[in-house]
Amino acid sequence: MGVTGAVGNCFLKILEEREFPVNNIKLLASERSKGKKLKFNGKLYPVEALTHDSFKGVDIVLSSAGASRSLEFLPSAVKAGAVCVDNSSAFRMEKGVPLVVPEVNGHRIKEHKGIIANPNCSTIQMVVALWPIHKAARIKRIVVSTYQSVSGAGQKKVIELWEQSKLFLAKKKIDPVEFPHQIAFNLIPQIDIFLENAYTKEEVKMVNETRKIMGDESIRVNATCVRVPVFYAHSESVNIETEKHISADEVRHILSKAAGVKVIDDPANKAYPMPILAEGKDDVLVGRIRQDESVENGISLWIVSDNIRKGAALNAIQIAERIITH
Ligand SMILES: NC(=O)c1ccc[n+]([C@@H]2O[C@H](COP(=O)([O-])OP(=O)(O)OC[C@H]3O[C@@H](n4cnc5c(N)ncnc54)[C@H](OP(=O)(O)O)[C@@H]3O)[C@@H](O)[C@H]2O)c1
Repeated sequence: MGVTGAVGNCFLKILEEREFPVNNIKLLASERSKGKKLKFNGKLYPVEALTHDSFKGVDIVLSSAGASRSLEFLPSAVKAGAVCVDNSSAFRMEKGVPLVVPEVNGHRIKEHKGIIANPNCSTIQMVVALWPIHKAARIKRIVVSTYQSVSGAGQKKVIELWEQSKLFLAKKKIDPVEFPHQIAFNLIPQIDIFLENAYTKEEVKMVNETRKIMGDESIRVNATCVRVPVFYAHSESVNIETEKHISADEVRHILSKAAGVKVIDDPANKAYPMPILAEGKDDVLVGRIRQDESVENGISLWIVSDNIRKGAALNAIQIAERIITH
């Protein structure tokens, strides 16, 4: 579901790369894309318009067509006997729906009643890196500022940054369409709508989803989410306070062995994670690991990951792999 979008496209790529055992595949998008043909495993398949009858004979639904489509159509998929891995925010905080990052809480997958939710992209990369530290020293508080790429908001936003960059360099007038302001050569400290508490919905997602995935409602999280003129991969400056003291060296050691993490932390050689290093890669990159000298037990780190891969399609396909092997 949503196969013609940024995440949907990546679903096809990763299913091929990981040789996911597919007997038959159905490509679903809106009425607008009906009849378009997309290649999968060397064969062309037509895109079909999503309807309530789309799910007959389907075992697994990978869904990335937005929250309202998930709310409307996934119950029909479940009724038809499919297990759904949903990338939208529709069911993430619903009681009884597992919200899963396999490296952190993969054991929750089996609790599903037809729908498993894939977390928000910025949350996924943060918890993959923080979970091993939490297990070693118990994280009490997280302060995070994100630097989120435009692809996190879908394919149209990627085109908007491209077009605005060309206009900017040609010294022509820019009229934002997709973003509330110019995004080329600018930063926008707003992702999603503002809520009554003056935080954005994206920031509140990071708070609630982190607690649910890490299974610890007492973790305090403060997030500031910023859209930056980068095409792919989100970056995050993260500061944590732990219950037990842990040194930067210990964190580096723990993370160098952690599933799904690659440590790039050699400041003397100017080696640290950057979006251009994360793009197209599966691992969550972590670097700039250092003691926070302003508190007793604090660590600061820099986390970068491809938002379309680990932040969406890859995480969902890892969940689907567990569905069929467990
Ligand atoms: N991009 C990310 O990094 C990321 C990360 C995590 C989660 N997500 C979530 O994944 C979902 C999709 O994101 P995206 O970035 O791939 O967006 P996108 O590039 O805008 O793609 C949206 C997809 O949804 C389909 N769609 C829209 N309206 C539809 C309708 N009425 N019926 C059926 N299909 C419809 C579109 O089909 P047409 O082409 O036919 O319009 C397209 O395939 C969103 O819920 C988003 O929050 C995205």
